[in-house]
Amino acid sequence: MRILTGLQPSGKLHIGNYFGAMDPAVKLQDQGEAFYFIADYHAMTSMTDAATLKNNVQDLAIDFLACGLDPEKATIFRQSDIPEVNELAWILSTVCPMGLLQRCHSYKDKVDRGLDANHALFAYPALMAADILLYDANLVPVGKDQKQHLEVTRDLAGKINDKFGEGTVVMPEAQIKDSTAVVPGLDGQKMSKSYDNTIPLTGGKKAIRKQIMKIVTSSHEVVEAKPTDGSTVIALYKLFADETAVQTMIDEHGLSGEQGMGYGHFKQQLFDAYWEKFESVRAKREELENNLDYIQQVISKGAEKAREESSKVLERVKKAVGLR
Ligand code: ADP
Ligand code: TRP
Repeated sequence: MRILTGLQPSGKLHIGNYFGAMDPAVKLQDQGEAFYFIADYHAMTSMTDAATLKNNVQDLAIDFLACGLDPEKATIFRQSDIPEVNELAWILSTVCPMGLLQRCHSYKDKVDRGLDANHALFAYPALMAADILLYDANLVPVGKDQKQHLEVTRDLAGKINDKFGEGTVVMPEAQIKDSTAVVPGLDGQKMSKSYDNTIPLTGGKKAIRKQIMKIVTSSHEVVEAKPTDGSTVIALYKLFADETAVQTMIDEHGLSGEQGMGYGHFKQQLFDAYWEKFESVRAKREELENNLDYIQQVISKGAEKAREESSKVLERVKKAVGLR
């Protein structure tokens, strides 16, 4: 089985990225041939500062390794090191109906938020399909927001195989885990770099505690029982704590009068659980930050390995469509 996923180097990694994509990717690296990449071409659709992009790529590579991706097991690479991806994206574009791209929520959302409505943003899903099909990926672990892009990919794969012969490309499948499909942000909406509502994966203790204290809650007083349905604090706590601890927090929400507990207490518990969970990631990050040559080595080795595969697949596709 071949597993593939990509993350955009568009800002600091947050715990939504971790639970939605990174953690599943780390777990899957033992279950097949894994390809994990830094989607820098995709990031160009939302960032225009060259120095920031360059720095973010390195930062994300550090995060990949700090979170437990192992270059001995997984091929870790940068999207733009593989020129074949743009060749395949073009071929896919020739079977990609405009309507399919027009229906993509992500494009509409991003334009509504003020991103340039340019060709790259519009064609983004076709490049993403190329990312996936270029490596014959079977399984793609992602968060729920990428579900539609995976559907576009499958649609395009079907069209290519119908037109040019079964087996021209491999039909991939998304892996979206229910429990972590949408990690809520500080305001209760989906956590996202673009909504300014994130809890970063790593960072200073004080700053992150401050972020967690900002989680929006109801305005109940300490002495009042508090609602648990729709509580962002509880939803986030579930990502870190076992069932018993979560149940205790839920029960404590129901206490009132002298026994009542304030939201500050629950947020502190969440912070403690968060801080402990990512202790080893923070330590590994620090170590890697002092070993940037190693990071570069990993990325260039990854590119070599990825190209071995991508050139084979592209050659097969080019033959099928009559370019060879
Ligand atoms: P962002 O929305 O912060 O820009 P990306 O679009 O770069 O994040 O997402 C990278 C990966 O992390 C994707 O697989 C995406 O589905 C996943 N992801 C992002 N935000 C969340 C979230 N809040 N909950 C679960 N998964 C998420
Ligand atoms: N679009 C994805 C995101 O915003 C990143 C991405 C690009 C990706 N290419 C991919 C994810 C291929 C999985 C497979 O998060």
